[in-house]
Amino acid sequence: MDMLSMMKQRRSIRKYLDKKVEWEKLEKIAEAGIYAPNPGGAQGTTVIMLDDAEVIDRIGVINAACENRNWSGRSVSADQPSIIDDLSIKSGFYGCPALGIVCIPKDRKTFVNGIGAAFTTAENMVMEAYSLDVSSCIVGRAEATFEKPEMQALLSEWGLDEKYMPLVFVCLGYIDGAYPQAKPRKEGRLLYIKKENA
Ligand SMILES: Cc1cc2nc3c(=O)[nH]c(=O)nc-3n(C[C@H](O)[C@H](O)[C@H](O)COP(=O)(O)O)c2cc1C
Repeated sequence: MDMLSMMKQRRSIRKYLDKKVEWEKLEKIAEAGIYAPNPGGAQGTTVIMLDDAEVIDRIGVINAACENRNWSGRSVSADQPSIIDDLSIKSGFYGCPALGIVCIPKDRKTFVNGIGAAFTTAENMVMEAYSLDVSSCIVGRAEATFEKPEMQALLSEWGLDEKYMPLVFVCLGYIDGAYPQAKPRKEGRLLYIKKENA
């Protein structure tokens, strides 16, 4: 399948089967992340990949608690409800069996390109996942999630260099149910400036 078709078909998935993702696939997804465009060629991002469902759930519950879930009138997805759509969801990671955590150097957290690098990394990861039939969802609030002392302890246990901080999560797993369709694109989001031939 060509890349544009893949981009049109990939969706954020929030319902996962209780089925492990093969470690070889997770390694490919993490590797795709570190090939993303990065500011100044700095290769500043680090990707943590884990497949311990119990640990993922523990972090996910803290992640959900970091969100203001009372955004009335806001709907993210009817097919794949988010923690804002469905207040009964306990984990911000939706029970996914594998999780990527994209980290950036702490000294770049106020540098817009540093943050951009985390999201180019995450985007490469979700597209590689899609190409491997693995579903995914980018999830925020990583900074707030890892502010908690017990979460900092986890980073030390994993051996993450202290100069890095988590910035974005990538939930990974096999979809439970049917794959949703993309919402129609809003009008007026493309502005083409094509020079006509003389
Ligand atoms: C920067 C960023 C942060 C996001 N954070 C969350 C999040 O915290 N929780 C969540 O369920 N989805 C999150 N998403 C996924 C979006 O909700 C999703 O991409 C959007 O609704 C469009 O749906 P689609 O990816 O299926 O096209 C995030 C996406 C991006 C790009």
